[in-house]
Amino acid sequence: MKLEVTKAVVPVAGLGTRFLPATKVIPKEMLTVVDRPTIQYIVEEVVASGIKEIVLVTASGKSAIEDHFDYSFELETFLAQKGKLDLLREVRHISRLIDVVSVRQKEPLGLGHAVKVTEPVVGDQPFVVVLGDDLVESEVPCVYQMLQVFGRFEESVVAVQRVPAEETHRYGIVEGEEVAEGVFKVTRLIEKPAPGTTDSNLAIIGRYVLHPHIYSCLSRTLPGVGGEIQLTDALEIMRRERGLYAYVFQGNRYDAGDKFGYLQATVNFALDHPELGARFREYLKELLNDG
Ligand code: G1P
Repeated sequence: MKLEVTKAVVPVAGLGTRFLPATKVIPKEMLTVVDRPTIQYIVEEVVASGIKEIVLVTASGKSAIEDHFDYSFELETFLAQKGKLDLLREVRHISRLIDVVSVRQKEPLGLGHAVKVTEPVVGDQPFVVVLGDDLVESEVPCVYQMLQVFGRFEESVVAVQRVPAEETHRYGIVEGEEVAEGVFKVTRLIEKPAPGTTDSNLAIIGRYVLHPHIYSCLSRTLPGVGGEIQLTDALEIMRRERGLYAYVFQGNRYDAGDKFGYLQATVNFALDHPELGARFREYLKELLNDG
């Protein structure tokens, strides 16, 4: 097996019910944070980490995502004719970012199932999984940080962050022993633990570097929390059979699939925006002083 990681799986088949009514027609991945859809931040992070191909796991009603990363002959011709060259460059940049392949998840059977359906496309090589709800702002792209850890320990890696004890039931939680700064050898994983069932507050956020053995683990994973095939449960098998590491990444993570997290992402990305940031900061100051 080569250790080079060239593919990123991005599951986008979810219905986005946490964001209704906004997501009735528009895929949640196409909701805009400042000036680009959330899925574009994900793709840019993956590209900046050296990944060459995206495997989207889609469902019906999600074709806007594929279109966003495809050529638009009509739009490009229109912009060229009108001499709007900056916009043309921007539109071309998106469609030339990376090769995109789509796989359908025909039934909503869970995150583990969404990863399982990519096996014919990914094959026998390690790959990255990135969840579109989790936006990470960091100096070094989060996926790149994780690939360094994977290169060093040569087993699968999940990204984690510490969360308050009262929030652990919303995440996959890992227990482990610290083996290097910010790197834990995982000793147990629990998806959405009931209060009091773990002392750990290391929560999995949506970034994984996975050994292809995960496909075998997934084929032996029974439905778990919510009756769904959980990736965390397959990772527990992986941990036993090969080993698994958790990495406390450097950066800020926002849950853009949640209304409050989406607002936090919007404000923080706006404050850091090269053209809008300074003006927006002034505006917020005025607003807060008036209040
Ligand atoms: C999924 C995973 C969970 C992880 C979370 C991160 O849960 O199952 O282990 O902690 O993503 O965002 P979901 O948010 O889809 O319920």
